[in-house]
Amino acid sequence: MNARTPVILVHGGAGVGMMTAAQASCLREALAQGYAELRRGAPAIRGVETAIRVLEGSGLFNAGVGSVLQLDGGRRMDASLMDGRDLRAGAVAAVEGIRYPITAARHVMDETDHVLLAGKPATRFARYCRIERQAPPTAAARKAALADARTLAFASKSWSLLQKMPRAGRLQAACETVGAVALDQAGNSAAGASTGGAGLMLPGRVGDTPQIGSGVYADNEAGAVSMTGRGEGIIRVAVAKEIVDRMEAGATPNRALQCVLRKLADRIHGTAGALVLAPNGRFAIGHTTPRMAAGHWTGNGRPIVADRFR
Ligand code: GLY
Repeated sequence: MNARTPVILVHGGAGVGMMTAAQASCLREALAQGYAELRRGAPAIRGVETAIRVLEGSGLFNAGVGSVLQLDGGRRMDASLMDGRDLRAGAVAAVEGIRYPITAARHVMDETDHVLLAGKPATRFARYCRIERQAPPTAAARKAALADARTLAFASKSWSLLQKMPRAGRLQAACETVGAVALDQAGNSAAGASTGGAGLMLPGRVGDTPQIGSGVYADNEAGAVSMTGRGEGIIRVAVAKEIVDRMEAGATPNRALQCVLRKLADRIHGTAGALVLAPNGRFAIGHTTPRMAAGHWTGNGRPIVADRFR
């Protein structure tokens, strides 16, 4: 079989903020490290995990080390991975105290009979897998991080609810979920995503990122998708699977992406951004938010990174 030219795409979240120079440089580094794996002949799933680990470890995005806090001050992270070769998938939700939730998701996929582990047992599993630890947020860091968002919280439904619940806490708002999709030399695809969640989150809230078919999907026969944006809308439309289904029915990546983003906006006023990669290597990046930090690379020149794609 002839080797194919690998392709990798990464994102650092869809929202309103401009991408910083440090974030752009980190996205390029994630593309370079993920692509290096693919060039060596590693499977797409390995390229995706490698790229996402760079973003999680940077502290520059709302994932891994940079994850936002929930309203009670806890840092609970979600991540998932899917392998388009055989539709295997792994995910963790509300995991705490580790630097690389994406690697915990990979261990769920490789070492268990399950797809999703959640909460304290997921954290125990990650510790068993010896995933590098992350210290809990210090009181000072928590106070500084949460102060900015408190004004927003006072007006939110989550805040009002939380005040009526025992042990009320505070919050921080952010998006900047990270993710990646890739195609390897053998033509296999994979998708992954990792997040600290959304702003104004009640403790225990889980978004689209660890939900296969909502936040990510990959199928060698149809394509791969990684989502970012407001999880509550993405879940209700099962956006990642819907995009892949449209590609399987013959739509180009761009057509499938635009149709589903329009449906999300028209039907439920949802906002999102997506990386979409077809089995033939064609791809699309799109968003309904003002900006989306993302990039792509096929191994020529330098990795391309921007914060607007239309
Ligand atoms: N898309 C990330 C989240 O809503 O949690």
